[in-house]
Amino acid sequence: MIRRRRVLAALGALPACAAPPLAAQEAPLRQVARARGLVFGTAVRADLLATDPELAALVAREAELLVPEWEAKWDALQPEEGRFEFAPLRAILGFAQRHHQRVRGHALIWHAAMPGWLTAALAEGPRRAAALMETHFTAVLRETREAIRDWDVLNEVIANPPGSDNPSATEGDLRPTPWLAALGPGYLERALRLARQLDPTLRLTLNDYGVEADTPHAGAKRQRLLRVARGLVERGVPLDAVGVQAHLQMRDPFRPEPLIAFLRALRDLGLAVLVTELDVREPDSLAPSLADRDAAVADYAGRFLAAAIEGGVRNVLTWGLTDRDSWLVKEPAVARADGATTRGLPYDEALRPKPLRAALAQVLGAG
Ligand code: G3I
Repeated sequence: MIRRRRVLAALGALPACAAPPLAAQEAPLRQVARARGLVFGTAVRADLLATDPELAALVAREAELLVPEWEAKWDALQPEEGRFEFAPLRAILGFAQRHHQRVRGHALIWHAAMPGWLTAALAEGPRRAAALMETHFTAVLRETREAIRDWDVLNEVIANPPGSDNPSATEGDLRPTPWLAALGPGYLERALRLARQLDPTLRLTLNDYGVEADTPHAGAKRQRLLRVARGLVERGVPLDAVGVQAHLQMRDPFRPEPLIAFLRALRDLGLAVLVTELDVREPDSLAPSLADRDAAVADYAGRFLAAAIEGGVRNVLTWGLTDRDSWLVKEPAVARADGATTRGLPYDEALRPKPLRAALAQVLGAG
């Protein structure tokens, strides 16, 4: 267990704003993780890697595994029907190759990042939807076959339970999406079987969020995800892993036991489990000083990550490395209401390491 005082003590009383630059002898997170048989990675954007050499160097140093934050989604890859845009994704694949990194794919089927033409086409009915899924999967898996060996085939397909703060809360296990409307509940099996048929050695992952906290709706969503995963496995549908996004919210209490039990139940189904999009949303009420906020974020994330590894997680990716580029800063729906910059990633806006990085290093190193 990472205790707040231990994080502060281990790091000394950092001045409020100036986190010291990473000491040269600090081992990269990829190295710390690998020494314990774990893999650390992060989300990247092609445009940022191309325009910010300092960020590119940090990504090259810290990460063994990359995931495109946007470039492998439908609206990036097929912005118009039949027109595929692989250049941004190829840029990330090239970067990874140069820095001896692997890349995981995200995401073949998702209800967001859908270009307008796709949403309209899915409404034309199941035959059209099935044909579009096959065309997209065939082109994308052919293009990435040599470079990407693990895909989020299904992203955020589990419905949010009533009582959660998401408007899509429903009674059924599956989130109402254009794919569900077009193809019915069988679209999950169709997508997974298609991916397996197109590339038999690909790791097929179902990725979702909101299953981390010790709250009634996180518990209900864990049960929904387990039911769906169990049903797929019992029907012999090819599924290899479940990704827990881990967009942690500090307003929610966290206790290791429910998460560990959930991860172990997935492992009992023969599924690997991974943390795919780790970052931390602070509550607005968090202590005003940066040092106190950073210590609280590090403590919360460290406790989560220790439990995730205890539950069987071996791959851990953050959703970026620096607060500067985080969706938590750019997306009004999740940004701090007081306008302050959320500090939910290992490095601050000036690419200085924060206590969260130290906490990740400590937990990965103890893994
Ligand atoms: O559209 C432009 C494109 O024209 C341009 O070439 C490109 C250059 O990078 O940027 C594109 O802009 C935006 C893109 O992020 C890159 O910044 C898109 O408009 C915008 O919709 C996209 O937002 C991403 C969002 O998913 C939707 O794809 C966020 O960065 C990304 O953080 C967010 O990530 C999601 C995960 O995929 C799933 N889990 C939740 C997570 C947070 O919402």
